[in-house]
Amino acid sequence: MKIQKLLIIGISVSATIFLSQCGPSKEVKELMKRANETIGVIPDKMPGSESDTGDKLALGKKLYFEKALSKDNAISCNSCHNLENGGNGTDNQSFSTGVNGKKGGRNAPTVFNAGFHIAQFWDGRAENLMAQAKGPILNPVEMAMPDADAVVRKIGKMPEYAELFKKAFPGTKDPVTYDNLVSAIASFERTLKTHDKFDEFQKGNAKALNSAEMEGLKTFLDTGCTNCHNGPLVGGNSYRKLGLVNAYETRDKGRYLVTKDEADMYVFKVPSLRNVTKTFPYFHDGSISTLKDAIQKMGWHQLGKKLGDEDIGKIATFLNTLSGN
Ligand code: HEC
Ligand code: HEC
Repeated sequence: MKIQKLLIIGISVSATIFLSQCGPSKEVKELMKRANETIGVIPDKMPGSESDTGDKLALGKKLYFEKALSKDNAISCNSCHNLENGGNGTDNQSFSTGVNGKKGGRNAPTVFNAGFHIAQFWDGRAENLMAQAKGPILNPVEMAMPDADAVVRKIGKMPEYAELFKKAFPGTKDPVTYDNLVSAIASFERTLKTHDKFDEFQKGNAKALNSAEMEGLKTFLDTGCTNCHNGPLVGGNSYRKLGLVNAYETRDKGRYLVTKDEADMYVFKVPSLRNVTKTFPYFHDGSISTLKDAIQKMGWHQLGKKLGDEDIGKIATFLNTLSGN
């Protein structure tokens, strides 16, 4: 009798050990499947990167950090989209400071993963990275150069650039053009991708997330956040009205400024939530300083839900798994 009991215990213990080595439980597999269906892994390559050469990247990287691209030689792309010392591609300010301390009217989004978005800027007014990069250099509250010709003349006079442009654009007679300059910056930006443990999880590594993080993922999916924040960037792929259910107070008319279509009033690009823990403050107006506050406001304005502290905490725990390097 005793021996039989011991045998049964022995068998069940080894069965448990065997099963736990067998891979994730049914629930975890189910969650992985849901995540992959609504979100998915960030692709390896950004669209357009096929034709990026090492020489073009090297030029683009130098230009990204080039303060001579601003009127007072004090501001580079990196001033507002910091990549140094583990920078997350933003300045963590509500509004950025450009030439002569001038402030813009919108929060600077991160440059990480930007090349995967449907379009650039909060209102999507630039169709791609190249079109985007033409903006800040000539924007009076950002880098404030008077016009494209002035930029080309200034950079064209700097001896260190002659060789770099020639290598990046071989076979062209006058490689220093505004289009080539922003095209090189765009190539460099196409290398700015993040890796995080949520993608490890989606690829099948059940241990990449702990149980609290999985619980958070489930809450994020169940609450309806993925109505808008979906696809590999957890956003970045559609435009939606801010204040869809309960109005949000803002003077910024969003995408209406681009399309002049009444239906686009207060419509913004749904931001990507990859790396969101690090890219505070939040919203186009940079008015929300904590992630928990952003989640609470999203629940109310976008879904008409009064989320409790517990759910907000769970969602924040999940969003933290989207932080990568
Ligand atoms: C003075 C600060 C400042 C400088 C300098 C600056 N940016 Fe920005 N950047 C911003 C702000 C603010 C926005 C958002 C503006 C908007 O949406 O209308 C933005 C938006 C962007 C976006 C769009 C991201 C998205 O999610 O839509 C990219 C990409 C970008 N900048 C790259 C650059 C590059 C490349 C340079 C250098 C050529 C540069 N920026 C210079 C402040 C700055
Ligand atoms: C109906 C669409 C929609 C739904 C549903 C939605 N969001 Fe958003 N979300 C947006 C839009 C649009 C913005 C940009 C707001 C702005 O322009 O200021 C945004 C912004 C955010 C931001 C700020 C990101 C940043 O970089 O500034 C966070 C965080 C966020 N959402 C999380 C959530 C969470 C969590 C949920 C679920 C509780 C959720 N969202 C539900 C559309 C939506």
